[in-house]
Amino acid sequence: MSDDKPTPDLVRDLLRQVHYPGFPRDVVSLGVVGEVSVEGKEVSISLRLPGGRTDVPPVLEKEIVSALAAHGLRARLASAVGAAAPATTRPGPAVAEGAELPGVHAVIAVSSAKGGVGKSTVATNLACALSTIGLKVGLLDADVYGPSLPIMMGTDARPHAAGGNRFHPVERHGVRCVSMGFFLDDSSPVIWRGPMVAGLVRQFLNDCVWGELDVLVIDLPPGTGDAQLTLAQQVKLDGALIVTTPQDVALRDVVRGVAMFRQLQIPVLGVIENMSVFVCPECGDVEEIFGRGAGETIARAADAPLLAQIPLDVRIREEGDRGRPIVLAEPGAQPAQTYRELAHVLAARIGAGVPGSPAAHA
Ligand SMILES: Nc1ncnc2c1ncn2[C@@H]1O[C@H](COP(=O)(O)OP(=O)(O)O)[C@@H](O)[C@H]1O
Ligand SMILES: [Mg+2]
Repeated sequence: MSDDKPTPDLVRDLLRQVHYPGFPRDVVSLGVVGEVSVEGKEVSISLRLPGGRTDVPPVLEKEIVSALAAHGLRARLASAVGAAAPATTRPGPAVAEGAELPGVHAVIAVSSAKGGVGKSTVATNLACALSTIGLKVGLLDADVYGPSLPIMMGTDARPHAAGGNRFHPVERHGVRCVSMGFFLDDSSPVIWRGPMVAGLVRQFLNDCVWGELDVLVIDLPPGTGDAQLTLAQQVKLDGALIVTTPQDVALRDVVRGVAMFRQLQIPVLGVIENMSVFVCPECGDVEEIFGRGAGETIARAADAPLLAQIPLDVRIREEGDRGRPIVLAEPGAQPAQTYRELAHVLAARIGAGVPGSPAAHA
């Protein structure tokens, strides 16, 4: 330790060498480090942890303690549930980080390790299927770089103001929707930096008047990085679904995605294999273009249940482009059936009663 008297700023600088377990960025820039106070060689640090968890992950604790011990400092760590917003985002409303959204029973994130695997298609169809079976559903498009909700749900309505900074979601196909696409002109370039993205997602979560929801489905941006961590810090996620295609490359990505959610202590509800078999538009024949058993292999490698296999079916793309999720456009088709089954499984997992079913709660 140099002769400098330790200060909170110095401690923060030291903590810039500590990464959040499993993430490439340091705990300070990620906004994990909250208040720091120093008394002599004793340092107290409050941490803002993802998922509203109150215990500090042991790996993180060890790293912080040893980073400071190397400079002769003793660290005491506590988690700051409901601490103030990170300085990088605008001052937030009253909702605490990692907190539950008032009136929202469950929050499920739909994620994928890479783009183009059909994550948004799954998120929109799942939201519609959950609504079809009788749940009150919200859909938050957190993919601010490539918002596809307006096209896939077939609406570019602007959200109505609700007083102050607040706004109403756009109701479409029985689902309450919010997307960056509602706030952009076609010509606006979408260039957001990390902290701005965090601020936007925070506003979508907290400033939107969601009302009572059985489930809020979040379409996450692809990848296993900051956006996922940021979201996990801002709202209590009840679980994550991982969308994948059945190729080998996807397998590695899926395992990475599952590992990330485990790090964040967010339950992985399961894997959804999209474009798993090809359905010939002419004759309806089913062809296993990626070979047999890819789904089981993925699920085993991910150590998570394979919840659904959705075929590569041209109608899914065509109807999606027209703003009519297949679940609604072709309710009798096999993909729609698969989505409804998935919706029932998830409703049971989050403990939402389906009206008219024996398990329904009052
Ligand atoms: N099961 C499927 N069958 C046919 N086309 C699909 C299927 N799933 C997705 N698509 C199409 O693939 C493209 C990428 O899907 P999208 O949901 O935008 O992916 P992501 O959100 O992962 O980037 C879209 O044109 C979509 O309509
Ligand atoms: Mg997408």
